[in-house]
Amino acid sequence: MNEVYEFEWVEVADFDDMSSYAAELFERQLLRKPDSVLGLATGASPIGFYEKLVERHAQGTFSFAQTWTFNLDEYIGVEPSHPTSFHNYMKEHLFEKVNLPVTRRHLPDGMADDLNEACLRYEMMIRTSGGIDMQLLGIGVNGHIGFNEPGTSFHSRTHIVDLAESTRTVNAKYFPSKDAVPRQAITMGIQTILEAKQIVLLALGEQKVEAVEQLKRGVISEDFPASCLHRHPHVTVFYGK
Ligand code: GLP
Repeated sequence: MNEVYEFEWVEVADFDDMSSYAAELFERQLLRKPDSVLGLATGASPIGFYEKLVERHAQGTFSFAQTWTFNLDEYIGVEPSHPTSFHNYMKEHLFEKVNLPVTRRHLPDGMADDLNEACLRYEMMIRTSGGIDMQLLGIGVNGHIGFNEPGTSFHSRTHIVDLAESTRTVNAKYFPSKDAVPRQAITMGIQTILEAKQIVLLALGEQKVEAVEQLKRGVISEDFPASCLHRHPHVTVFYGK
């Protein structure tokens, strides 16, 4: 349970490289198991990954027809159709471009009347699907994964979070102003993420160097959420400047 594992560290030359390698891993997963359950992420890091995955899918070697997807997180109070929602991001970068049926795509419901119930339902759906086979992650400058901010329990499951000020500042670029950035989100918990069978982390660029260094130091602490990944036996980290 408290075992510590080595990551597979893959240094990449650039964004294109990282995106291709990660897309290849997911393609192989879908070739091996067409009804895979994929855990997906948003943000700037996976944009190239989705592009490559869509390109590979267009070649006709694999299909999303039997695949299930679960995204890590969604803002609370942002309509799915709004340009800044993660629902919209996924439509734009993946869902509209591949043959993944609507009923197989899942993101947390940040518009639910009962948000706590929405969190429980999300966990249940992941479990019912058989659990996540391959989970894509980015990393926040403060080490967050999903929206699990520093201090989040490693035992957490899908839950409501108050976004850290640093996260709201970083994400302000997607909104008209920082004030417009939601203060809360629903995110898969750390425990939810750790239950994925395989994890692929994208951590590229100057902004992420410090976070990567901290990961390399290997200190496991809830103050640095991504450090939980040292407890997972199968993590690949694509990193570089
Ligand atoms: C966001 C997301 C994370 C993402 C991270 C890094 O706030 N909730 O899932 O991994 O920040 O984003 P980026 O890839 O844009 O640096």
